[in-house]
Amino acid sequence: MKTTIKLLAGTAICLMTSFPAFATEYRIAVGDGAGGTQEALGKAFVEALEKESGGAMTGKLFVNGQLGDEQDTVTAAATGTLDFSILAINNITPFSPSVGTLTLPYVILSQDDAEKVTQGEIGQQMVEQTIEDAGVRIIGWGYSGFRVLTNSKKPVSTVADLQGLVVRVPKNEIMIETYKSWGINPTPMAWGETFAALQQKVVDGQDNPYMTVNAMKFYEVQKYITDLRYIFSIEPLIVSEALFESLSEDEQQHVLAAGEAATQASAAFLREQESKIREELVGRGMEITKPADDEKEFIDLATTNVWPKFYDQIGGVEVLNGVLASLGRDPV
Ligand code: MLT
Repeated sequence: MKTTIKLLAGTAICLMTSFPAFATEYRIAVGDGAGGTQEALGKAFVEALEKESGGAMTGKLFVNGQLGDEQDTVTAAATGTLDFSILAINNITPFSPSVGTLTLPYVILSQDDAEKVTQGEIGQQMVEQTIEDAGVRIIGWGYSGFRVLTNSKKPVSTVADLQGLVVRVPKNEIMIETYKSWGINPTPMAWGETFAALQQKVVDGQDNPYMTVNAMKFYEVQKYITDLRYIFSIEPLIVSEALFESLSEDEQQHVLAAGEAATQASAAFLREQESKIREELVGRGMEITKPADDEKEFIDLATTNVWPKFYDQIGGVEVLNGVLASLGRDPV
């Protein structure tokens, strides 16, 4: 097989194969390890892209942050040195504050909520805002489940239990303020450094969905899980807007259709896998604790103290009220 290389928006390569004559291969950064929801979203996207384009477009996944830390991939895609990236939405928020509405604690309360908001009018507004703010286009939505708290020291069921734990959070102001509302000062840290920090006991804990805890093998360095439901992790698939704009209209349609197919595949993947993965983590020795009193104390502290601090950043309280209304909930 002969291979020719042509640069497209910096990084895509064209492979000369027997069928079709040329396939353009795009590089897709994946923040998490293999086996998780991000990789599943990426695989579904590549499969659909090949199908939509009759084999003319394809993609190669680079899992485990091989193409850079999640937040760095946003900058790389914006400047056209990376084609696609799959990452947690909390790592886009620093570049496009309006998507922060989806990381405000206790706004998204179920997978149904996450699908409704991202796949409806609000999701479309966020796509447009992210292009404007960050130079990247969200073309698919992945769903990973609630971010549960893990730690290596003790079962945590109340806010009092949390005191004294050193918890890593992404470099995301909303998440930092949420932990502060629960009385601790968390440690903001890049995703790519988290496993080593847990292993070396620089931090005691972190939060991420069951699917991510498993894909990142955190069970090797963490013992206790608290079933928090403060953020439902949404994992967008983004494309460099510079690359997208350079595509023909047909190619753009292939990318968008493949993104839509990957979104549906991701929702089904989480529904099928999450409880199985939860059981596997227990089988590997992790202990799951429910928050006391149906999480009331966590919910009250976070919603009362954190939401108002971010109204301006997300574009006004009406943005939050729009999301709440779309979910059939009362405005603030
Ligand atoms: C983070 O904690 O930085 C992210 O949520 C990790 C991820 O993308 O799974």
